[in-house]
Amino acid sequence: MRIAMIGGGYVGLVSGACFAEFGVEVAVVEADAAKLAALRAGRMPIYEPGLEQLVADNVAAGRLSFGDDLAAAVAEAEAVFIAVGTPTRRGDGHADLSYVYAAVEQVARALRGPAVIVTKSTVPVGTGRRIAELVRQVRPELDFDVASNPEFLREGNAIGDFMRPDRVVIGCESPRAQEVLRRLYRPLNLIEVPIVFTAIETAELIKYAANAFLAMKVTFINEMADLCERVGADVHDVARGIGLDGRIGRKFLHPGPGFGGSCFPKDTLALMRIAQEAGAPSRLVEAVVAVNDARKAGMAARIVAACGGSVRGRTVAVLGLTFKPETDDMRDSPALPIVARLVEDGAQVRAFDPAGMEQARPLLPHGVTYCHDALDAAAGADALVVVTEWNEFRALAPARLRTAMRGSVLVDLRNVYDPVAMTQAGFSYHAIGRART
Ligand code: UDX
Repeated sequence: MRIAMIGGGYVGLVSGACFAEFGVEVAVVEADAAKLAALRAGRMPIYEPGLEQLVADNVAAGRLSFGDDLAAAVAEAEAVFIAVGTPTRRGDGHADLSYVYAAVEQVARALRGPAVIVTKSTVPVGTGRRIAELVRQVRPELDFDVASNPEFLREGNAIGDFMRPDRVVIGCESPRAQEVLRRLYRPLNLIEVPIVFTAIETAELIKYAANAFLAMKVTFINEMADLCERVGADVHDVARGIGLDGRIGRKFLHPGPGFGGSCFPKDTLALMRIAQEAGAPSRLVEAVVAVNDARKAGMAARIVAACGGSVRGRTVAVLGLTFKPETDDMRDSPALPIVARLVEDGAQVRAFDPAGMEQARPLLPHGVTYCHDALDAAAGADALVVVTEWNEFRALAPARLRTAMRGSVLVDLRNVYDPVAMTQAGFSYHAIGRART
């Protein structure tokens, strides 16, 4: 079986490598010359555990190739996946589909035999249908189907999520498209992964609904954390106490500085717009967007308060810059408004992130000191803030951290430390949603 993957970005690259691992011949088409050169040289443009090896193995096995010749890649393909970017359009919050339509038009011109054109990028409801119309306009005689196959990959865990998903969602309306996609995902039958076949619009909406629901869970527990602080309750116990109810579930109830990343902020905003335009506005999703934006913007004030009301002239160590661990992604990271505000308020910021330093540099204000490791960042600091829960920060010995610092303020925005141990080590320890010890 042969497929083409248009777009060698995060989604295209991970999906392409994983389909190749399933035994499919995958031609990844990447238009950006520098990215393509890197991929061909075996260098990954993104940080994703296990990806480099998976790509190398499948390239060596002759199942995975990278090129810029779209026509050649799609000519013999049974399925063509569209995995190009859909950034938020400036001004209105809608997804920008210009890359998607440009890719579809080229695919339509290049196809020779019957094929299924599958959207893997997250696209607004109705895009699949518009793609079908576009293809019919460009090539009225072409025999093709359209399908929607949204991805649910988490950065840092993308390969596992692809190989052992909770479900696969496929929106398509012809038996032939169903057969092709069923064949493509056949290896997952062995582990009994449910394959959910739906109408195209439904599959498109499932992706947004899933992300918005998860974003809502995170936002809910964040609000509960604020309430816990006021009433003397512990948010972890609340999360456990509600999460053990199978109807609620324990995942995505970890409080923090607000969600970021490439998906939740973009998809909640897009769903909000989609719902408004469809005449069925979602006040819940609108609230999630507003509450999360306010949370991220307000996080720095917490740090300032923990420092006694001012950070002017103080040195603040920031551990973790990426929006979550195991990624180098800085998109919509809570660290951005936090560091910006600390610098604006006159703090000296000493930052360290295990993977995101290069990505962070152009996004953070001048004057930030980039450190070699967590202890280096802590050296001489008045306050230390954990923004991202990298495992290596969990493993730091409290006493060593404390002696490295000048001051004793520890603001743990991810609740990675044991409050009692930190207090015993001499820290003035501030967590999220837990009473001060
Ligand atoms: C998400 C979805 O999980 C994935 O299915 C989809 O395909 C893409 O978007 P990702 O953005 O990689 O994946 O990260 P995820 O692990 O879901 O975390 C999203 C954000 O929520 C992060 O900022 C994270 O720190 C935050 N989060 C998550 C919490 O604050 N608490 C939690 O309990 C879970």
